[in-house]
Amino acid sequence: MRYCTGYNPVPNLLIMRILVTGGAGYVGSHCVRALCDAGHDVVAFDSLVKGHREAVDARASLVVADLGDRGRLNEVLGGETFDGVMHFAAFAEVGESVKDPLSYYQNNVVKSAVLLDAMCEHGVGRIVFSSTCAVYGVPPSAPITEDMPLNPISPYGRTKLAMEWMLSDCANAWGLGAIALRYFNASGASASGAIGEDHDPESHLIPLVLQVALGQREKIMIFGDDYETPDGTCVRDYVHVDDLAAIHKTAIEKVTPGAFAAYNVGTGQGTSVNAVIDASRSVTGHQIPTEVVDRRAGDPPSLFADPALISCELGWSPKYSEIEATIESAWDWHRSHPRGFAE
Ligand SMILES: NC(=O)c1ccc[n+]([C@@H]2O[C@H](COP(=O)([O-])OP(=O)(O)OC[C@H]3O[C@@H](n4cnc5c(N)ncnc54)[C@H](O)[C@@H]3O)[C@@H](O)[C@H]2O)c1
Repeated sequence: MRYCTGYNPVPNLLIMRILVTGGAGYVGSHCVRALCDAGHDVVAFDSLVKGHREAVDARASLVVADLGDRGRLNEVLGGETFDGVMHFAAFAEVGESVKDPLSYYQNNVVKSAVLLDAMCEHGVGRIVFSSTCAVYGVPPSAPITEDMPLNPISPYGRTKLAMEWMLSDCANAWGLGAIALRYFNASGASASGAIGEDHDPESHLIPLVLQVALGQREKIMIFGDDYETPDGTCVRDYVHVDDLAAIHKTAIEKVTPGAFAAYNVGTGQGTSVNAVIDASRSVTGHQIPTEVVDRRAGDPPSLFADPALISCELGWSPKYSEIEATIESAWDWHRSHPRGFAE
């Protein structure tokens, strides 16, 4: 276990100019909004391959371009002085990554190298990177600590681990300051009601369950109820997207030049699939029919974070610790935007 050096406040960086790659996506757009609320100057950089123009806060500017477009990156990073980058842009579907690994390596690794090279050239020395608990693969136990073996079992997880290595190597080579945030299951929607989750295809449990409540799906499939967990269904850690946005804001201020650090970002609470469905029934007042089907290959029984390190070193703890509150925020969004941003 890395020795905890304690909560180390840094000078108050009053107004920063931040480039947010993937700023039109689910987590990125919540982060853009939080940065704007804090008065920072934000440029979202997104190809819109998966994201939504409407998700980008009107106070930020949006550059529609691909991360692999070095010319565009040069124009943006060379045009103004940036204090840091938050790097969300990636493909993030495990199943898709198994079928088409090269597009994942190309998008998540090769294009990230283009970004880092441009940052180096233009003297941008801070980055906060969206990593994932998928870097642990099937951990030996839960809760998961940062010192557990890094053994991703999908191409998606491997691209994220490769990116962590790249950040660490750049920290050594040219003094980049980098923090990788290993999120568990991002969920919920902005308390503002203005933005929320709209993936296509949707693969995340909470929006799928809420689509059943909205009558858009007949039932929710439960992939296995014979795991060694308290109720037999898989256990995950659902971290609210506004809590993720808050830790990004803190992390970019606390990045140390020449150092790489990785932190778990989860609530520390494991919630089973059945518990999510039950909580959704009570939040929505709908029955939410289910069907139990075979386990999916590669689904670990239990994945939840030990968030002690991030709490100790970055002073972060989630505001949303109850699954009902997270589901309520998601339900508000899905009810008011049943077709997502297509309304
Ligand atoms: N959602 C989760 O539960 C979760 C969990 C762990 C890690 N993550 C990571 O967090 C990040 C954001 O996830 P999300 O759920 O918001 O995904 P998302 O698909 O909603 O957002 C990703 C955004 O990146 C953009 N993008 C992708 N490739 C690009 C490219 N080459 N150039 C420019 N823009 C590009 C997309 O258009 C999209 O707007 C991803 O890196 C993902 O791997 C997400």
